[in-house]
Amino acid sequence: MPRKNSVPVVNRPSTPAKETGPVTVPDFLAAKAQGRRLTLLTAYDYTMARLLDAAGVDAILVGDSLGMVVQGHETALSVTLDEMIYHTKLVARGVSRSLLITDMPFMSFQVSPQQAVENAGRIVKEAGAHAVKVEGGVRSAPAIEAIVRADIPVMGHVGMTPQSVRRFGGFRVQRDEPKLIADAQAVEAAGAFALVIECVPATTAEKITGAVKIPTIGIGAGAGCDGQILVTHDMLGLFDDFRPRFAKQYADVGRTILQAVEQYCKEVREGTFPDAEHAFR
Ligand code: KIV
Repeated sequence: MPRKNSVPVVNRPSTPAKETGPVTVPDFLAAKAQGRRLTLLTAYDYTMARLLDAAGVDAILVGDSLGMVVQGHETALSVTLDEMIYHTKLVARGVSRSLLITDMPFMSFQVSPQQAVENAGRIVKEAGAHAVKVEGGVRSAPAIEAIVRADIPVMGHVGMTPQSVRRFGGFRVQRDEPKLIADAQAVEAAGAFALVIECVPATTAEKITGAVKIPTIGIGAGAGCDGQILVTHDMLGLFDDFRPRFAKQYADVGRTILQAVEQYCKEVREGTFPDAEHAFR
């Protein structure tokens, strides 16, 4: 197994946030001003975090999509704060350059601004995240404001917010443009440094992007945002229980794993593995 200091820095991006040094919250704000598109992906463990970090992704999100792509639930609603902290600790060990952001899971910030600050504090102090993500617009502004006042950077998230899946009646495209713009502006006014826009029409996402100074990060929101995020398991072809239309698949790692495991089983059963090369004399 390769050691930490032997990670090859592969496929460096053509326009990284910085040539050297870690990506910071001010770099995110500067990216929008400079018209430089931001790249974000999710990770839930050390191995994947190291690969994403080495490939030059600007930020890694420990998303509560953990509940679906790692834990096998139908929604993210059951993910706990302790589980987010545990997975953030794993990811933090693999990150040396990317900004590390952790989702605040369902019911970890909705009760009161005080609850929100205490739990965001745990994510930073115990797990090592650089920032947290909070779902919701106008209704989440008091929680975002309280967390930012404690000097913890917050990324907002509007549109199809997965923690509202029961209210929406499923993972549905959100089309109420005036409400979405008001939500985005409330998140910005509360002090967030960036904003995820999920599953809204491309024209609406473009209007939101023009209506706020903070960078917008699209997922199923078209090309008019200041950056993009995908769930890594979707883009690598590792998860096919549910395939959102917007999730472009860049590799079929699931198939590669199936073929490798089938080959291993075949060789063990036939007695061709282990061979002399993989045995001690
Ligand atoms: O939980 C998650 O992975 C997310 C992204 C899809 C934005 O919230």
